[in-house]
Amino acid sequence: MDQELNGAMRSVSINSNGLAATPHLNGHSKDEPDNVRRVAAEGALSASASDAASAVSKATNASTAAAAARAIPAAASFASTATEAASLSGLAGASDAEKKKMVHELCQQLLLTDEQVQELCYRILHEIRRGLAKDTHPKANVKCFVTYVQDLPNGDERGKFLALDLGGTNFRVLLIHLQENNDFQMESRIYAIPQHIMIGSGTQLFDHIAECLSNFMAEHNVYAERLPLGFTFSFPLRQLGLTCGLLETWTKGFNCAGVVNEDVVQLLKDAIARRGDVQIDVCAILNDTTGTLMSCAWKNHHCRIGLIVGTGSNACYVERVEEAELFDAQGNRKPHVLINTEWGAFGDNGALDFVRTEFDQDIDSHSINPGKQTFEKMISGMYMGELVRLVLVKMTHAGILFKGQDSEVLNTRGLFFTKYVSEIEADEPGTFTNCRLVFEELGLTNATDGDCANVRYICECVSKRAAHLVSAGIATLINKMDEPHVTVGVDGSVYRFHPKFHNLMVEKITKLIKPGITFDLMLSEDGSGRGAALVAAVACREDIVNSKK
Ligand code: GLC
Repeated sequence: MDQELNGAMRSVSINSNGLAATPHLNGHSKDEPDNVRRVAAEGALSASASDAASAVSKATNASTAAAAARAIPAAASFASTATEAASLSGLAGASDAEKKKMVHELCQQLLLTDEQVQELCYRILHEIRRGLAKDTHPKANVKCFVTYVQDLPNGDERGKFLALDLGGTNFRVLLIHLQENNDFQMESRIYAIPQHIMIGSGTQLFDHIAECLSNFMAEHNVYAERLPLGFTFSFPLRQLGLTCGLLETWTKGFNCAGVVNEDVVQLLKDAIARRGDVQIDVCAILNDTTGTLMSCAWKNHHCRIGLIVGTGSNACYVERVEEAELFDAQGNRKPHVLINTEWGAFGDNGALDFVRTEFDQDIDSHSINPGKQTFEKMISGMYMGELVRLVLVKMTHAGILFKGQDSEVLNTRGLFFTKYVSEIEADEPGTFTNCRLVFEELGLTNATDGDCANVRYICECVSKRAAHLVSAGIATLINKMDEPHVTVGVDGSVYRFHPKFHNLMVEKITKLIKPGITFDLMLSEDGSGRGAALVAAVACREDIVNSKK
């Protein structure tokens, strides 16, 4: 849950001219703090007795019983060989140039070569094909779920819609009025989902959603109206139609009991019926990637891909119906259907092992869903800050950063927020203003300019790798669609706030796509909200056409 929003309720009103800024997620891990860091013995970077000794002395300096308690077992585990101790005491006194070299060497494992990125494209394509085909789908990691969305908006959609948006760092209810000339009015409210509900029962979750919906309708004077609703539910959903979807598995820190394999539309309808106070027509359920694509397609008719790089990462794209073997077309002759790839699970079968690092393994083993969402864990905002923190801890304990002096915050899981990565990288070259502010929050007081430069380099390696992984996925989709020009609608806090993510992606995708194809990346204006209204509106448009036949 986003710390800045946790426990708070915020009201946001926007219209087509003014985009309300999405509060930045912090990538806060749900894991319990685990401050005893066992650093793997690896050449000069191995942790050793000297780390342990300095950890004990730091703990004493900090004079906190908790820190001392953590340091002592660390001392025992780090005191391995005298040689390591000697090499490490040497590290703390190394020159700036030597430290920089060591940082660059350790970060080498985070950089993807052109060959590796190309290999990733082949593997992603292979997994997408396995997801689409009937025979291989059950075992595929990239499920490629059929969304049942077959029509992109044509700009004629009008009317008042409700939308629910569940699946990121917070839950929102929205009232959207689609108007002439691509204009729209939108009012929304963010509701916290307390941690106990995120991992409680499904009934509690849907009762909470229905209660927020009812309160919202009362506050916005539509309590007595019967309105169509689009439900953006950003988790892997095995859809059986536009208004029926079974949850495959929870992702992103959610784990409510009794929802997997259930139709979430029905769960929502049941919760609304239990209250019995409001009248809602649930017209569509969709993923945030679908919402993003629809929202961009409303204005840009070349949009064929929806991408999210936020708390999680995923993409959807326009596929030919012949390719979507699981699509039960029921006499429908439309040529295309949107596919929700759920690419976050790419690599769960080991396909990413050739580029995964010790830091990725650490993130995974301490996550709520070990072995799952491997690709997502290397990319998205829920994990990016933590990845950087793990590298920093390793280098600090090896004496390469901060003269070997860590801090309680640095040693605590989840407290290096993903927004720090964007902030640190936003400093002008040669200046470290944001970087030093971040260090202050982390309680790191001994940083030199050399430390700042090294930390920025580490952030750059982690975020660049994420951008390159996403680019491999997008280039694969663009090449598969094989259209002359594709616009990619993009949303999510990492893409939105990281100062270089967009450019890194443009550069990499350009290199990976077939000659002759062009593309552009378009920032989505609230895909999860407006997109939900558009999917509902397109569904209504169909109903009207069908009823006139
Ligand atoms: C996770 C969800 C997926 C969603 C993505 C971005 O990967 O499983 O459905 O689209 O996060 O929010």
